[in-house]
Amino acid sequence: MSTGAELRRKFLNYFALRDHLILPSASLVPKDDPSLLLTVAGMVPFKPYFQGKVTPPHPRLATAQKCLRTQDLEEVGKTARHNTFFEMLGNFSIGDYFKKETIGWSWEFLTKELGLPPEDLWITVYRDDQEAAEIWHDLMGVPRERIIPLGDDTNFWEAGPVGPCGPCSEILFDLGPAYSCGSPDCGVECECGRYLEVWNLVFTEFNREEDGKLSKLPRRNIDTGMGLERIASVLQGVPNNFETDLIFPLIEEAAIASGISYGADDKSDVALKVIADHARAVSFLIADGVHPSNEGRGYVLRRILRRAVRYGRLLGIRDPFLKRLTDKTIALYQDPYRELKERSGHIQRIVSLEEERFSETLEQGLQILQEQLEKVEVSGEKNLPGGVAFRLYDTFGFPLELTQEILAERGMNVDLDGFRVSMEKQRERARAARVETVPSDSFKVCTAYSGDKTKFTGYGNLSARSQITAIIADGKRKSESDPGGAGTGYIGPDTFLL
Ligand code: SER
Repeated sequence: MSTGAELRRKFLNYFALRDHLILPSASLVPKDDPSLLLTVAGMVPFKPYFQGKVTPPHPRLATAQKCLRTQDLEEVGKTARHNTFFEMLGNFSIGDYFKKETIGWSWEFLTKELGLPPEDLWITVYRDDQEAAEIWHDLMGVPRERIIPLGDDTNFWEAGPVGPCGPCSEILFDLGPAYSCGSPDCGVECECGRYLEVWNLVFTEFNREEDGKLSKLPRRNIDTGMGLERIASVLQGVPNNFETDLIFPLIEEAAIASGISYGADDKSDVALKVIADHARAVSFLIADGVHPSNEGRGYVLRRILRRAVRYGRLLGIRDPFLKRLTDKTIALYQDPYRELKERSGHIQRIVSLEEERFSETLEQGLQILQEQLEKVEVSGEKNLPGGVAFRLYDTFGFPLELTQEILAERGMNVDLDGFRVSMEKQRERARAARVETVPSDSFKVCTAYSGDKTKFTGYGNLSARSQITAIIADGKRKSESDPGGAGTGYIGPDTFLL
């Protein structure tokens, strides 16, 4: 059996021997990239290389990259494969090798290094990509019936609305009939999970421009990604990512905290998986400098963390428990990811504080939600009034999506328009109050307001540089501060002050 750590090492060694420079994982917070909130793939840190804006340290690179995706957050814990945080193993060519080499290496790595039976591997290619199909068939010997051409939905890869992208070819592992939905049409496109996508090879030739059009990149590149947890599940012969050695110790920790064993029943298993997944995400996000807040990536962190706390309650855990899970994450991952160890005290503080804050209001919020739900149900409605969801958000710290998820469990929704109206009214009130109540005496560190992009840096620093976007003194906006005077500044984009 290969452990996750062995697989990570094996992959990087394999590509190091083929003249790839092995780089450490970049942060989960993309650098100088306003188009992405978080690092969603191994290629994200290399976008400027692909675009020809920056020269790479070497034309061949390989990484195990920390990634975080939240588009299917509600599915996490309920399915075998959805994770928020995961590691992506990837090799990259910046204008160097192209299809033939990368297809050859991925085939060799899977079938020779990892020993997967070639007959269990299926291939998809972009519908027009005859060249890739020929390489798979002529050079790798994959039978034509196991090479499936597909369209833009699955076989054209893009990291976000703009940036480097291209047609791709996926390698899928057939887990066997036991995993099939049984439909006569069950095949590589089926969602049932029998055919597990293990590796995606992107032929990055294009750039998606702001106007949505595709332009040619200066050179042809390669971007590949293999989910470490997925390939570990195949090699370790377990039915889902959670039972690999990369996550299972966290499930065991959550089982100890709750007194409920994994496997006791489906519902508690979901909760244990959610807690395990989210503990990893929370630890890595905080280690990379994300702080819980109500916007941007801070909101992503808050949402994940609070979802974990609620699932803890569902398991009957009353006392704070998340810290022991994040401590366990640090212990599990501190070897490859030293930032976890280096920032362990910070992670512990933020997790404890945020869990404590939410725990204070969770019970009461759940009770209010329950009462309101009963009222709505009696009236035969399917929508919770937006004002109620907003009160839960604003006063009880329930991320909207958490309320939506609780409602969905009962086949109900939130009246989103009503929620938005309440949010807007609250913002207007806050804007007015801010101007009226600004203190006239000076202070050294404050949370600064700059419209929409505000970052509180006061947990780690007592001073910082930022652009001043407004000066308010005696409750009024001023165009300049009094010389030597100490106005109160609402500034941005990166917080700070006076
Ligand atoms: N960027 C591609 C993906 O995330 C391949 O790494 O699937």
